[in-house]
Amino acid sequence: MKTQVLIVGAGPAGLFLALMLHELGLDTVVLERRDRAYVEGRVRAGVLEQITVDLMQRLGVGDRLAQEGLVHTGTNLAYEGGAFRIDMQALTSGSAVTVYGQQEVMKDLFDAAAARGVRIVFGADNVDLHNLTSAHPFVTWSEESQPHRSECDFVVGCDGFHGVSRGKIPAGASKAFERVYPFGWLGILTETPPVNHELIYCNSERGFALASMRSLTRSRYYIQCALDEDIEDWPDERFWEELELRLGTVGGAIPRGPSFEKSIAPLRSFVTEPMRHGRLFLAGDAAHIVPPTGAKGMNLAVSDVIMLAEALEAFYVKGAESGLEGYSTRALDRVWKAERFSWWFTGLTHRFPDTDPFSRRMQLAEIEYIRGSRAAQTVLAENYVGLPITGEAGSRWRV
Ligand code: APR
Ligand code: PHB
Repeated sequence: MKTQVLIVGAGPAGLFLALMLHELGLDTVVLERRDRAYVEGRVRAGVLEQITVDLMQRLGVGDRLAQEGLVHTGTNLAYEGGAFRIDMQALTSGSAVTVYGQQEVMKDLFDAAAARGVRIVFGADNVDLHNLTSAHPFVTWSEESQPHRSECDFVVGCDGFHGVSRGKIPAGASKAFERVYPFGWLGILTETPPVNHELIYCNSERGFALASMRSLTRSRYYIQCALDEDIEDWPDERFWEELELRLGTVGGAIPRGPSFEKSIAPLRSFVTEPMRHGRLFLAGDAAHIVPPTGAKGMNLAVSDVIMLAEALEAFYVKGAESGLEGYSTRALDRVWKAERFSWWFTGLTHRFPDTDPFSRRMQLAEIEYIRGSRAAQTVLAENYVGLPITGEAGSRWRV
């Protein structure tokens, strides 16, 4: 087998990239370890920045999003002193976010890939990358125990935090930066109307809580929990009670119902530099992780692959290598800013084991300051709706 760009991983990064390259007339193969149902079934965040909405429209996969996505022009911060709204639309030049679950995004992307003949190999085991610093890399894998091999011009590692690609960069050629937080998020999905028409991020004495949603009839709630929390100890009743204690009366009575998904996720900040090694490029969670506060994970995967698609287009159409050479620096610039925002928002809203009375007062003073300052609200709003993609990157994929 032979292809121009071999993509490892069919999550958001891999599939968005494959569909963009397909539009540009480039040949790709995507190798995915799991099956479609597994990838599509994973419950992840559901807040899309405008760059992600635009990309879906440009790729012609945005019909359901336009129908079913909920445009949110504001978001809310709650704390023991009350709650207030941040009018993102008024504070930025008209920007908003769109609530549409990552599971729905994946369904739309997989449907389009299948209809357009984008090659995806599901159940690809033992993926290995070879000759990455030569002009002729190749990739090997097995399918139902049969060995396979494909030559390619470039390999893109879109295989998430636990993938094989990042490890192919020699230790001496890369540097990792990491912060592991001393808590997790316990999340539930319920077939109940949301408690509020917009999201509520809540700093409570008892720990962080988030009221989110997937639609007008489906809610997503999170509470900060200990890392060693046993999910068995959290029947729905206990979850609802704790959520109510944290949210207080903000938003009113919470409509309760049985949860149909419940899970605990750890929080981590992680960046590896550079995002390129020879003819291997990293994109999305393979290169960086953010804590979910601020919902930047999938949107960062999208900005990476927008920049990479543009660099690959320049290479194949104009023979220009400068875009590929600049990819890592350009992507990391936006990555670090989103890392900073996610880290800051986590620090502002969570209870840390070492939160002493002084640090608690600092948190509350900062929230009060944001409440009273248009400048501070603007900082939050422009980060929340998503920072621009600098340079020329992305104009092709904007509406
Ligand atoms: N070989 C083939 N595929 C692999 C391998 C491997 N060795 N390792 C991992 N994969 C696949 C996974 O099964 C998964 O489908 O790569 C994909 C990586 O997808 P994500 O983890 O979703 O990463 P990414 O596409 O970068 O998306 C980032 O989406 O899933 C969220 O939390 C994530 O918000 C973040 C964003
Ligand atoms: C979600 O709905 O799952 C969600 C929303 C906002 C976040 C994180 C998660 O910041």
